[in-house]
Amino acid sequence: MPSYDVADPALAEQGARKVAWAERAMPVLGLLRERFAQERPLDGITVAACMHVTPETAALVRVLTAGGAAVHLAASNPLSTQDDVAAALAAEGVGVHARHGVTRDEYVAHLTAVLEAGPQLLLDDGCDLVDLLHTKPVLRKGVRAGVEETTTGVLRLRQMTADGALKIPMVAVNDTSVQRLVANRHGTGQSTVDAVLRATGALLAGTTVVIAGYGPCGAGIAERARGLGAHVLVTEIDPARALEAVLSGHRVATMADAAPLGDVFITATGNRDVLRAEHFEVMKDGAVLANAGHFDVEIDVRSLAENSLEVHRKVRPHVDEHLMADGRRLLLVAEGRLVNLAAAEGHPASVMDVSFAVQALTLEWLTTQVLKPGVYDVPPEIDAEVARTKLAALGIGLEALTPEQQRYLSSWRP
Ligand code: ADE
Repeated sequence: MPSYDVADPALAEQGARKVAWAERAMPVLGLLRERFAQERPLDGITVAACMHVTPETAALVRVLTAGGAAVHLAASNPLSTQDDVAAALAAEGVGVHARHGVTRDEYVAHLTAVLEAGPQLLLDDGCDLVDLLHTKPVLRKGVRAGVEETTTGVLRLRQMTADGALKIPMVAVNDTSVQRLVANRHGTGQSTVDAVLRATGALLAGTTVVIAGYGPCGAGIAERARGLGAHVLVTEIDPARALEAVLSGHRVATMADAAPLGDVFITATGNRDVLRAEHFEVMKDGAVLANAGHFDVEIDVRSLAENSLEVHRKVRPHVDEHLMADGRRLLLVAEGRLVNLAAAEGHPASVMDVSFAVQALTLEWLTTQVLKPGVYDVPPEIDAEVARTKLAALGIGLEALTPEQQRYLSSWRP
């Protein structure tokens, strides 16, 4: 058994039940698990993963272990760890280092532990493993390559490449069509709104929901908020995205104009200080603030606390109330951290089925590659194969080109 650090091993059975429930909605991973068990493409490979410790992640880990890998898993956010799932994986022989609510130091110790297991391949979600490997190069020994799941992580990898700092090859799962169209839009869209509702119990119908950022995540959140009857107000820096939001029927404004109007604010930009002191000053009493971005930098939580007369922690399990000097109360959800995983359960299993199938197939592909340091795209065949398999599992057929149509598309002659 590899070493592990989980909150309570006795929770394993409860965790295993959650994993089994998630697996019902993950048919693509189910098929992969069967093939991997027969072909063992990851025999002899050690994988270090930094991921949200959820039932869906556990389903992916089971596919990798069925394929022969030894997996060591650390959490990618202290608040998203489900302790029962961590216990279930530890009981199955996975080197899990994750406990809900750990301190920063414990969090880094967990990342270090999975890297000390001597991985050849990495699964990263937000670039934390990659960051650590670059600050402690001794941990990089033997690492051949990895995959990165998030928009934020891929952005960082590209910045590292531009600076000549990236020392390993990394594959950008976030840039696949299935990730953008399915996970970012529908996964983040549903789970973020779900988290705000669970945390506050608010009725969204008739309220104004301000969404900062209209990338695939912001667009998904906007669609769901509108579906529940909210008026959506979008803020953007990108003119094409702002135009897309306008033509989708949303209002677009600057945050200075939106701040006094919003009942709920959701950031989904990947950037810092999107909601800051000048906005807090003019928000309505009772405004709800939540962040859907990977890092807890989008809401300037420190200045919110500094400008509050008092902070009433946990007025509901995931809500802190900030009492401002003029008596207004601003309600911060999940401490400004990734709200869909901190205050709810992340993307639904059916969505993660697709993202994680891409991860598993990309790891399999990496075992056959020798790559130089840099950021790589997922081979397009993997993207298409996963979408096709998911459709087949849903019982949905695809049109096929006739030979004439194929010829028409491949020739410039009329
Ligand atoms: N990222 C977003 N949703 C997730 C989930 N349910 N499990 C793991 N990682 C996630």
